[in-house]
Amino acid sequence: MSPSQNATASRCVVVTGASSGIGKASAEAFARMGWHVIGTGRDPARCADAEEAIRAVASHGSRVDFVRGDFTEMAEVKRVASEIANLTDRVHVLVNNAGGVRDAHYRTSEGLEATFAANHLAPFLLTRELLPLLEKAADDSPPGTVRVIAVSSSAHLVCQGLNWNDLMMVEDFTANAAYCQAKLANLLFTRELNRRLADKGIVAQAMHPGRVGSNFASHGDDAMQAYMAANECILPEAPARTIIWMATAPEVGRDGGRYFHDLAEIDAAPQACDDDAAARLWSESENMLANLV
Ligand SMILES: NC(=O)c1ccc[n+]([C@@H]2O[C@H](COP(=O)([O-])OP(=O)(O)OC[C@H]3O[C@@H](n4cnc5c(N)ncnc54)[C@H](OP(=O)(O)O)[C@@H]3O)[C@@H](O)[C@H]2O)c1
Repeated sequence: MSPSQNATASRCVVVTGASSGIGKASAEAFARMGWHVIGTGRDPARCADAEEAIRAVASHGSRVDFVRGDFTEMAEVKRVASEIANLTDRVHVLVNNAGGVRDAHYRTSEGLEATFAANHLAPFLLTRELLPLLEKAADDSPPGTVRVIAVSSSAHLVCQGLNWNDLMMVEDFTANAAYCQAKLANLLFTRELNRRLADKGIVAQAMHPGRVGSNFASHGDDAMQAYMAANECILPEAPARTIIWMATAPEVGRDGGRYFHDLAEIDAAPQACDDDAAARLWSESENMLANLV
């Protein structure tokens, strides 16, 4: 019997971007631990390969499902969320990992800039759509054990603050600046999400994975590809260990809105700890989505 039909798993995790790199390594680790793993990905061949690889290491009693969708399109994010809701009635951990840098400016069919859409708006919307499943898990779990984890980046340090007049960088786009801004948005979103969920027993935390040898650079421009090739990278299993720890360790279930790297808390930039900016990003994101979906 395949792990997907043999479900006795008591904890369910959604890992976005599980078709490659950090997300795939994390999904494999959760499957080894016997969880019900729901992975998401975009590229059909990478999704199929990853699903097979995750199933191959899944322990008895775990369950593995995969849902495909392009997170630059918010209609796709909504569809993915509703497919997840058909697979489980509870989500104990949501790992918002999907994303990365792009090589140029791409405008989606919904009129969004692709980097901002995939790295910030998609996890914002997916979390909102999965909130009933997170709340249901929290209702019958000890406080602090239901968690939302954002895979951000030290790239946020480079962005001095969100460009409120042009969050999509329509006027002045560079691929790196768009990425750095989106990774700052991950931290601000985590901060405001945690504030809003605190009384429900759900904790939101963020992490920096390090410089990781994955498929990340292949989506970037020549300079990004050269930078990643010239510098030593760690294996995706290293940040996956931190993600598993963040999903399970009692000390990470307290005092949400924090930032971690390599199994320890680290400092985020001051601009990532700005409660007013976090609240404003939330309402701007709601407004953007209200005009779309
Ligand atoms: N690698 C690093 O050095 C590094 C450093 C700091 C932060 N990060 C962050 O770590 C996270 C994971 O990156 P990674 O290094 O593991 O890179 P990766 O190997 O390229 O994996 C990224 C995952 O996200 C998915 N994804 C990307 N854009 C998507 C979209 N528009 N719609 C749906 N899925 C999408 C990819 O799907 P496909 O298989 O279809 O591409 C893949 O599953 C990202 O958020 C990245 O920003 C990485």
